[in-house]
Amino acid sequence: MEKILITGGAGFIGSHTVVELTKAGYSPVIVDDFSNSNQSAIRGIESIIKQSVKVYEGDCNDAQFMNDLFVAEQNITGVIHFAAYKAVGESVEKPLQYYQNNVGSLMVLLDVMKKNGVENVVFSSSCTVYGEPDQLPVTEKSPIKPAESPYGNTKQVCEEILEDVIKSDADYKAIALRYFNPIGAHPSSHIGELPLGVPNNLIPFVTQTAAGHREQLTIFGDEYDTPDGTCVRDYIHVVDLAKAHVKALQHFKNQNTPYYDVFNIGTGKGNSVLEVVKTFEKVSEQKLKYKIGDKRTGDVEQVFGDVEKANNELHWKAALTLEDALRDAWNWQKKLK
Ligand code: WQD
Repeated sequence: MEKILITGGAGFIGSHTVVELTKAGYSPVIVDDFSNSNQSAIRGIESIIKQSVKVYEGDCNDAQFMNDLFVAEQNITGVIHFAAYKAVGESVEKPLQYYQNNVGSLMVLLDVMKKNGVENVVFSSSCTVYGEPDQLPVTEKSPIKPAESPYGNTKQVCEEILEDVIKSDADYKAIALRYFNPIGAHPSSHIGELPLGVPNNLIPFVTQTAAGHREQLTIFGDEYDTPDGTCVRDYIHVVDLAKAHVKALQHFKNQNTPYYDVFNIGTGKGNSVLEVVKTFEKVSEQKLKYKIGDKRTGDVEQVFGDVEKANNELHWKAALTLEDALRDAWNWQKKLK
């Protein structure tokens, strides 16, 4: 069984990927500092896969710790690098922490991989690199726009680092997956999103409002140039997204070093905030309290991805619907209570 290191493996996308990797016959090893995740995610993973999973607690910026981990584990064949800070607003307040953690950890990782003869790395990137797109859907060839936040910039810089390193060094294969908006939870309700404090993202705010933890949802603007005036995003079920990582690892097998490429990972379809609300009301069989508020600074009007490249080259396609994702997110929220 191939051993894959999953940094940030206790997080939202990481935990679902650990499950899908196990189902696909890989042996995942998690490293996480639990700064924005919880041990309960590990128990959730183990309930689904019905076996224990190996976890190292520590900081991916700590080169000594990371090197010791690679030496202790020996034959790691690939890494999926999720570990990162991800709050857009917080990144504006604390840019240094974001650059240090998000960019620093990738640099440590590439160095430690090299020292230990590990070639393959999948990197968590984001559709945020496209900014406000000139044309929709965005393809991987769409222009990269100046980042709206330090968080967004860390994703751009990390992609550039990967590209430069791979240009200079024949011993790596890397894929950056540009995620659109990951939502949902595992259908078993054993793992899902665990936002700290008041959620910034739409779906956790919706489910927490429905559960009575929030007074009401504020929809950020309804005068955008979109069919119903609210912003449009490409919402992708986290289980589909997790499966894309398995496909990326399999894709490395057919490539020679050096190799670097980027793929959009979304559904290819845009949904408005109001459509999300209506679909949520349908699957949860209840009315959601919401009001229309001001635009949120930094929000793009519309973004959804052209996912042909991932369909054709990674042989991956999103299979689950917005309804599936919202039902799973709601079942997860009900379990959390
Ligand atoms: C979705 C839509 C809001 C909350 C961000 C990051 C991105 C990525 C995912 C993360 C928007 C609207 C939201 C609310 C609302 N990376 N909304 N009321 O902004 O598309 O993407 O998260 O790790 O890089 O920028 O996602 O879920 O915050 O918002 O009306 O209370 O919902 O305006 O149109 P976003 P989101």
